[in-house]
Amino acid sequence: MSSIAVIGGGKIGEALIAGLLDGGVNPKDIHVTNRSVERGQYLREKFSVVPFVDNGPAVDGVDVVFICVKPKMVLKVAEEIAEIIDNNDATTVVSMAAGITNAALEEVLAAGAPVIRAMPNTPMLVGKGMTALAPGRFVDEEQLAKVTTLLQATGAVRVVEESDMDAVTAMSGSSPAYFFLMIEAMIDAGVNLGLSRDAAKDLSVNALYGAAAMLKETGEEPQQLRANVSSPGGATIAAIRAFEEAGLRAAVYDATQACARRSAELG
Ligand SMILES: NC(=O)c1ccc[n+]([C@@H]2O[C@H](COP(=O)([O-])OP(=O)(O)OC[C@H]3O[C@@H](n4cnc5c(N)ncnc54)[C@H](OP(=O)(O)O)[C@@H]3O)[C@@H](O)[C@H]2O)c1
Repeated sequence: MSSIAVIGGGKIGEALIAGLLDGGVNPKDIHVTNRSVERGQYLREKFSVVPFVDNGPAVDGVDVVFICVKPKMVLKVAEEIAEIIDNNDATTVVSMAAGITNAALEEVLAAGAPVIRAMPNTPMLVGKGMTALAPGRFVDEEQLAKVTTLLQATGAVRVVEESDMDAVTAMSGSSPAYFFLMIEAMIDAGVNLGLSRDAAKDLSVNALYGAAAMLKETGEEPQQLRANVSSPGGATIAAIRAFEEAGLRAAVYDATQACARRSAELG
């Protein structure tokens, strides 16, 4: 059984803890750090994990450290834990922060430290996350497999090249917000058609949920699934035509490119 330190028990840290517990990790094997004592107490009461305010003691002797603080704090945290990690070469450090490269972390940590850059997303909060992992130079297969298995308790996991991380941010890190925006628009559109807000939300959220489940469970291409419900001269193809005329595809290209570009700038 792995022992784990979660540095930064905020939104992503809490979602990760919930997933790890679902995956069968013993709460006593999970250390969590926050600078505020109250947040640590909240996490202890909710999950029975072990709270710390100092990062050094929290990482001492653990197998995997997940750094879940804001990007600008990551290298400072890495500096704080470098010496302790150095004394335990079995520890793998996983950064969940956008934009911080493996090379930057490797430089701060001891020579040869196994580092993995991860890009999660917030559906992790409900066990439906998508996390991409880019292993650093010193990570062996066993360490990557261990981290993959731990994160699979929070949703899907995919190993990618680190050079793809900005595109990953556009595809999965940030994309839940695109779908929330789409549903927001659908709800207003439903109200415009005379439905109550509640009915419009129920109908559109369940349609999105069902469409995603169909894509995952059937393995069919989206074009095929769309063609299946677009009868000749029918209502669905009339809606598709309106989307095409409004430039939906071009908007998707532009939005994802803007996201990837901004992700690179922030890095
Ligand atoms: N939220 C997302 O959608 C998302 C998606 C992909 C990736 N991420 C990445 O996940 C990371 C965390 O994001 P988040 O949304 O979870 O942020 P958050 O809710 O602000 O959580 C950060 C946590 O870190 C703690 N913290 C700050 N400095 C610390 C330190 N020096 N030592 C220990 N704990 C410290 C904070 O608590 P105290 O102030 O009490 O210390 C806070 O609970 C970010 O790097 C972000 O890029 C987030």
